[in-house]
Amino acid sequence: MSSDQVSVSSNHNGVEKTNEEVDEDIVTPWNVSTTSVKGVDYDKLIVKFGCKKLDQALVDRIENLTGKPVHPMLRRGLFFAHRDLEYILDRFEKKQPFFLYTGRGPSSGALHLGHLIPFMFTKYLQEIFDVPLIVQMTDDEKFLWKDLTSEQSKKMAHENIKDIIAVGFDPEKTFIFCNTEYMCPAFYQTVLKVWKVVTNNQARSIFGFSGEDSIGKAAFPAIQAAPCFSSSFPQIFNGRRDIPCLIPCAIDQDPYFRMSRDAAPRLNFPKPTLIFSSFLPALQGAQTKMAASDQNTCIYIDDSPKNIKNKINKYAFSGGQATVEEHRKLGGNCDVDISYQFLKYFMDDDDKLEEIRKKYSSGEMLTGELKKEAIEVIQKVVADLQERRKLVTDETVNTFTSVHKLQYNY
Ligand code: TYM
Ligand code: TRP
Repeated sequence: MSSDQVSVSSNHNGVEKTNEEVDEDIVTPWNVSTTSVKGVDYDKLIVKFGCKKLDQALVDRIENLTGKPVHPMLRRGLFFAHRDLEYILDRFEKKQPFFLYTGRGPSSGALHLGHLIPFMFTKYLQEIFDVPLIVQMTDDEKFLWKDLTSEQSKKMAHENIKDIIAVGFDPEKTFIFCNTEYMCPAFYQTVLKVWKVVTNNQARSIFGFSGEDSIGKAAFPAIQAAPCFSSSFPQIFNGRRDIPCLIPCAIDQDPYFRMSRDAAPRLNFPKPTLIFSSFLPALQGAQTKMAASDQNTCIYIDDSPKNIKNKINKYAFSGGQATVEEHRKLGGNCDVDISYQFLKYFMDDDDKLEEIRKKYSSGEMLTGELKKEAIEVIQKVVADLQERRKLVTDETVNTFTSVHKLQYNY
């Protein structure tokens, strides 16, 4: 078995384990859960999935190659693992072409803060590398998996595209598409090739599909795999099939790309490269991720400032002590504190973050004060996005979604 062929836990699709059986973290495209208040054990996950730790040497190499300070999410180890990142950095160094690919499954009317993470990081990657970006909206996936009509999933996809554009992308450098709208001959032929080389047994072992699942579900992973290959976008890559991609995403998406990497050499395509983030936790605690399937766990990017304040004050799990006296004496625990975790993702200022960590851990800072910092930072991130989103019209969406050539020549 190659390192790309590890199967995920078969425990998904709502099949619950009993308490005695819950022995390990569950990370699949459909479910993330652990019994630990500190969240998923990412070191164990790296071993289980067979990817690599993104170590300091690699972070330093990115900084040296690009001559720019690395993104806080990279500095702070929030993007923590990869597959073959060296290969893409070598290409960058040799000025050989590659592209960025990421995506979104439109399952809610607005993105939540967790979804922002790969998109904010992708924006940084596009700034440092200056390469094409392709964003896939899997409205077909959500139609197949959720209780949604195809009109509903398409409408959500279009609303979500506006959110993504508001992160700050440029239509000259970015192509965003909905699967149900972009099934052109080149894309379909790429899907078809992937279908041919992946067996039912492989799909079942990677994704845990059973005989009860629709044939649509079994067919879908090839559609998420196809944009890994430049053959799917002749208008951008001038018919070239040999241009590799780098995919930023949270590690729940890895099963799709293990499958893609396994298929690639058999199709004479380069393997996709990956860079993985950890999960922004649910408001209630790091035992689960912030997930659109459970509204209570989320802060949405269309929430009002007041709503954000109320959600954090009411729900954000606290690593503080039960009473002020105890807190002053024992200090708070940043490892489990959700307000602190949010700051780790969204506060730019390293010095201020470190100061907060020290003060909270020593008991000098109280939970209410920490929550106030988190509320201010999140309100600002969301307000800035909402401001930019107001400028995004249907016409703007068209400039990203029309089948167009980007500013790069091949
Ligand atoms: P979706 O819509 O579930 O998630 C979109 C992106 O957000 C990441 N993500 C998170 N990151 C950090 N913390 C969280 N709590 C959190 N929740 C979600 C996901 O990993 C993903 O990167 N099938 C995919 C759509 C897709 C895709 C892709 C994603 C198609 N092609 C290529 C990444 C790369 C989906 O439903 O994503
Ligand atoms: N849900 C909002 C509406 O129905 C639209 C929306 C989605 C939005 N994402 C957003 C608005 C982000 C502002 C910011 O109107």
